[in-house]
Amino acid sequence: MAQNALIAPSILSADFARLGDEVRAIDAAGADWIHIDVMDGHYVPNLTIGPAVIKALRPHTKKPFDVHLMIQPIDPFIEAFAEAGADIITAHPEAGPHFHRTVQAIKAAGAKAGAALNPSTPETVLDHVIEELDVVLVMSVNPGFGGQSFITGQLRKIEALRTLIDAMELPTLVEVDGGVNAETARQCLDAGAHALVAGTAVFKGGPDHYASNIAALRGG
Ligand code: DX5
Ligand code: ZN
Repeated sequence: MAQNALIAPSILSADFARLGDEVRAIDAAGADWIHIDVMDGHYVPNLTIGPAVIKALRPHTKKPFDVHLMIQPIDPFIEAFAEAGADIITAHPEAGPHFHRTVQAIKAAGAKAGAALNPSTPETVLDHVIEELDVVLVMSVNPGFGGQSFITGQLRKIEALRTLIDAMELPTLVEVDGGVNAETARQCLDAGAHALVAGTAVFKGGPDHYASNIAALRGG
C-alpha cells in the first residue's frame, strides 16, 4: 500500500526566493501533487501566498496543484484560485457558515473539492457533504505553521474516514497534513490514508535529498 501513497510536498518549507526552481525540483524528485498553503493572518496566525504566486508557479510543473485554503472568508476567493491554476481547492468547514455552498462554488469554478478538518473537528461534520468531496484533508497539527509535531490522536479520525468512504464506495481520498515524516507516514498509511502532505520532511537537506526524502515517506 505504501508504494501507492500519493506524496504532496508542501512548498511552505521551500526556499521562497527560488520557488519556481523548488517546484521543478520536487516534481523531478517524484512528487504526485504540489501542496500550496494559503494563509491569511486571520483564520490562522500566519501569512503566506495568494493567487498571483500560484499563477506564476503554474508553468513550472504539470503536476496537480493541491491548494489548501486557510482563509476566512473563503467563497469570494475561490474563482481567483481556480483561475490561477489550482486543481484541488481544499477549504476548512470551520471557516465559513455554509460549507456545502463553498463546495459547490469550488466545483463550479472547475476544481476538485476538499474539506480540511482541524484536530478538534470531528469527521462527522462531513456526514452530509462527503459524497460531494474529492479529498478530505485530516490536519494532524493545528494549521498555521510547518515544522510542528504530529498529533497521534488524529489517526483515529483517518481510520474512521477511510472506513466510511470504503463502506459508501466513494472515490474520496483521505489526505493527512502536518508533522508527517517517515515514521508517522507509516502510521497514517496503516490507518488508511491515501495521500500525505509533508513540508519539513521533503525539503530537509536541500534539492539533492528531495528524491530520497520522498521515497522515505513511501516506505523507502
Ligand atoms: C500547516 C500546513 C502544512 C504544513 C506542513 O498549516 O497546512 O501543510 O506546511 O508542514 P510540516 O510537514 O513541516 O508539518
Ligand atoms: Zn497544508
